Amino acid sequence: MTQQPTSRSTTLSQDELKAMVGQAALRYVVPGEIVGVGSGSTVNKFIDALASMKEQIKGAVSSSVASTQRMQALGIAVFDSNEVERLSVYIDGADEIDHQGNMIKGGGAALTREKIVAAQSARFVCIVDESKLVGRLGKFPVPVEVIPMALQRLTRQFAALGGTASVRMKDGQSLITDNGQLILDVAGLQISDPRSFESEVSQWPGVVTVGVFAFQKAQVCLLATPAGVKTMMF
Ligand code: 5RP
Repeated sequence: MTQQPTSRSTTLSQDELKAMVGQAALRYVVPGEIVGVGSGSTVNKFIDALASMKEQIKGAVSSSVASTQRMQALGIAVFDSNEVERLSVYIDGADEIDHQGNMIKGGGAALTREKIVAAQSARFVCIVDESKLVGRLGKFPVPVEVIPMALQRLTRQFAALGGTASVRMKDGQSLITDNGQLILDVAGLQISDPRSFESEVSQWPGVVTVGVFAFQKAQVCLLATPAGVKTMMF
């Protein structure tokens, strides 16, 4: 793990840590190219920073309606993922990341599009604060995007693995994703082998996307700490 020299080693708010790592991610953006952009509050800081170099890039492929709207409001061109064959870099946050670069994602319900954009990118740069770094994935409930008619059976299947699934709610109603589906948040899972977990759950009928990113794991993690941004390579 390398650490860039940065100024302060004082108490920084969560918001300041996110802004710091969002800014640090700019050095992975390749001038003249299209960059893959994730979703969430940390990525919002990256998008704000990206606006400062929007003239130097062609634009972005976005992983959510919210990120698309934020980028367009800042004058960053947004391309459909089908218009772009390969991206050299994808920059996104995570809810948890382990020391091998495996992640839990989907706290913002954008996991399906995030996995799609990550899959077309040569390098995943994950931007998080240090609270997201874990020894083993699973403390954060695993988000799973599901087809509504499979809800009860999938809830039973997760229970058989020791997990407790609940439908994500928003404003008193089931949250509907950008793809028109539901999110199950599954608490209590012990994910000792992220690849086999992702493989198995991805095959269950009715699962659109499981929020474990082991096949599309990060190659780089920029970790915001009060002492500066640390870089982990996997
Ligand atoms: C959205 C995601 C986000 O990357 C993840 O939830 C982290 O978000 P934040 O930066 O707000 O903590 O996976 O689906």
